[in-house]
Amino acid sequence: MLQDSPLKIKLIHASERGLIAKNTTFIMIISSCEQLDNYSFPASFSEKTHHILESPGYDVLTTLGAHKTIFVISSEKEVETWRLIGASLYKILKKERISFAQLKELRTLSLENRRALFEGLLLASYCFSKHKENLKQDKILIYVSGSVFPGAELQELHLLNEAITLTKNLVNEPLNHLDALKLSEVIVQAGKEFGFETEILHEQEIIQLRMGGLLAVNKGSETPPTFNVLEYRPANAVNVRPLVLVGKGIMFDTGGYSLKTGGSMVTMKCDMAGGAAVLGIIAAIASNKLPYYVVGLIPATDNKISASALVVDDIITMMDGTTVEIQNTDAEGRLVLADALTYARRFDPELVIDIATLTGAAAAITGYYGIAMAGNHQQKMDKLKQSGEAVHERLFQLPLWKEFGELLNSETADLRNIGGPIGGASTASKFLEHFTSYDWIHLDIAGAAYIKKHIGYKQSGGTASGVRLLYEFTKQQIKEEIEIKKTNEHD
Ligand code: BES
Ligand code: MN
Ligand code: ZN
Repeated sequence: MLQDSPLKIKLIHASERGLIAKNTTFIMIISSCEQLDNYSFPASFSEKTHHILESPGYDVLTTLGAHKTIFVISSEKEVETWRLIGASLYKILKKERISFAQLKELRTLSLENRRALFEGLLLASYCFSKHKENLKQDKILIYVSGSVFPGAELQELHLLNEAITLTKNLVNEPLNHLDALKLSEVIVQAGKEFGFETEILHEQEIIQLRMGGLLAVNKGSETPPTFNVLEYRPANAVNVRPLVLVGKGIMFDTGGYSLKTGGSMVTMKCDMAGGAAVLGIIAAIASNKLPYYVVGLIPATDNKISASALVVDDIITMMDGTTVEIQNTDAEGRLVLADALTYARRFDPELVIDIATLTGAAAAITGYYGIAMAGNHQQKMDKLKQSGEAVHERLFQLPLWKEFGELLNSETADLRNIGGPIGGASTASKFLEHFTSYDWIHLDIAGAAYIKKHIGYKQSGGTASGVRLLYEFTKQQIKEEIEIKKTNEHD
């Protein structure tokens, strides 16, 4: 699963120039059509025959001397637009069957937008072709000189995209190829390849820890649950207390006895997207050797039916002793997450962020286009929101009003596991909040994690929602810590 990167684009910097063939296609990024006058076009060139109009970039395909040449004409300044232009450029390269290209002209583009263009190219070139024998496509090599983009940043972008690819692959893999036990194997393997520590807790240890939520959801399954602990603690970490990331790892969600009906069960292999994101984020942080202490917690099981499965009206006892009256077995994500949030306490975390495909109600708010957020620390949520804008993984904040908590009151237990017909994304957040005793942010990625049709630089299927967001957030946290240390030294 980890060996061969399915990314079809590789950006190559100066040191690897020897790899580039002579029949290279040139790529020119210019800001206006007038600039075309600076180049001498062949007599055969006519605007009609050589124009491909692709929004949002405006592209011209022609030959200059011996070189096939693509002009990308855009005066756009917005970063996200350049990611989308990267995706359109990838489409042209693929359609024209180009295997070597060189970015020749980039002067009008800011460094940030160059990065966005490369990011769009890389993200768009992902393809889940593992189970399709005849989908063979060669890699497209693009030469980027050191004067155009720093080699170290290119390396960072590639490593980040390898981690994103891992997350997408896992989300796209169906249950019969990836159950909880196999996920744990992949996590151990990824730890070795990307450079972080792993510990897998198996059923007996989960029973000893009294993780009643995870065990209850697992009752209907033939596969035992796993609780996966990932840890990256570099010697030069700027933080003492870790950032703990908790990811929902429901390998498939049938709903249990509150069975999903109609078409709503289709795509539920994506219900471990939060867990896959946690793995991808830690893989990206570790392979790029960021000086930050992070821990990942992924409770994993499928949610299925058997004679011994959980039923509604059951009362279960969670790891922290809270009793929960089950009113809907399809509200299973909060049960496994709650135990992980309890387990998180032992790390004395600076901040805990959970990430989960938790509610259809959140998806109804955000559509495919963003993430619903709740939490108990406004300043930290505001910072995360800023990172979201920077990488275009936008966050929308849910209310955590106490009235939503009251909807979870039970006659016979401490809590019920659903509220009512209203405020489903907020009542789910309230349920999780009950188990937190530290600064905490909840991210509901039910809308963005999995798409049925491609959008811009995102292919259909898993989108690795949350990975670029939390990688960026971690980098900002590091910057801030370093700033604080500097000011303290000056005092
Ligand atoms: N995994 C689902 C949420 C989901 C829905 C994810 C659509 C991705 C796309 C979750 O376990 C679930 O079933 N939630 C229920 C909660 C309800 C029973 C309170 C829902 O949203 O209907
Ligand atoms: Mn469910
Ligand atoms: Zn679920």
